[in-house]
Amino acid sequence: MNKLIVSLLLTVGISGIAHAAGDATAGQAKAAVCGACHGPDGNSMAPNFPKLAGQGERYLTKQLHDIKSGKRTVLEMTGLLTNLSDQDLADIAAYFAKQNGSVGAADPKIVARGEALFRGGDLAKGLPACTGCHSPNGAGNVAAGFPHLGGQHAQYVAKQLTDFRKEEGGRTNDGDAKTMQTIAKRLSDEDIAAVSSYIQGLH
Ligand code: HEC
Ligand code: HEC
Repeated sequence: MNKLIVSLLLTVGISGIAHAAGDATAGQAKAAVCGACHGPDGNSMAPNFPKLAGQGERYLTKQLHDIKSGKRTVLEMTGLLTNLSDQDLADIAAYFAKQNGSVGAADPKIVARGEALFRGGDLAKGLPACTGCHSPNGAGNVAAGFPHLGGQHAQYVAKQLTDFRKEEGGRTNDGDAKTMQTIAKRLSDEDIAAVSSYIQGLH
């Protein structure tokens, strides 16, 4: 098994924080304000707003806590989570996790390179296959908190990979193992465009 995966699995096992169990029915009303950007059922129409439908509950809860605390910066959501309790965040996560995620299409010109990277990584660059954590169909690993990627907007995915790659002002909430920061630094702009397009059509 890849060293990166082993160290990440260990980190997740040790630091797995127990959160309140979410109630999807209660979450629907609490998520009404989110629909303007993410879509009422979590299938956002705008390519810069991530789809939340079908995303893993554990991953969603973690992101909500990180956005609320400022560990992950989302300017568009400034202040929106301030008055929500841990139970509110758990309920909202449960609601979106229960919805069915929609799927887009990949760009046929770059899909082959994207698929090769996603499924096989790149040995020469020390890049692990994405499937190891995000699963072959892009469903992720709900229990481990590895996010669902299949069908996500390519523009959003590309922005996240670029943000993980940034030395400053990027996305740094991927834990002490810095798994995604390490991986993203090994991706070129062309790699990011190809793998993001592949993910948009993956299901
Ligand atoms: C004004 C638009 C807007 C509103 C309203 C909004 N969001 Fe967001 N949200 C965003 C954007 C933009 C991002 C992605 C930022 C980035 O590029 O990293 C995001 C990211 C997220 C993420 C991370 C998704 C992932 O795949 O990592 C979650 C979870 C989330 N929002 C939940 C919510 C919830 C819950 C609400 C309502 C309480 C909400 N958002 C309201 C714009 C919005
Ligand atoms: C060792 C496990 C592992 C591997 C391999 C891996 N990832 Fe990840 N990935 C993660 C974890 C864990 C997160 C969530 C980090 C966090 O908590 O913010 C993540 C997050 C992401 C996100 C952000 C999702 C969102 O909704 O914002 C994208 C995009 C992503 N990975 C793409 C990839 C791609 C592309 C590859 C292959 C080149 C890859 N990952 C390989 C573990 C992995």
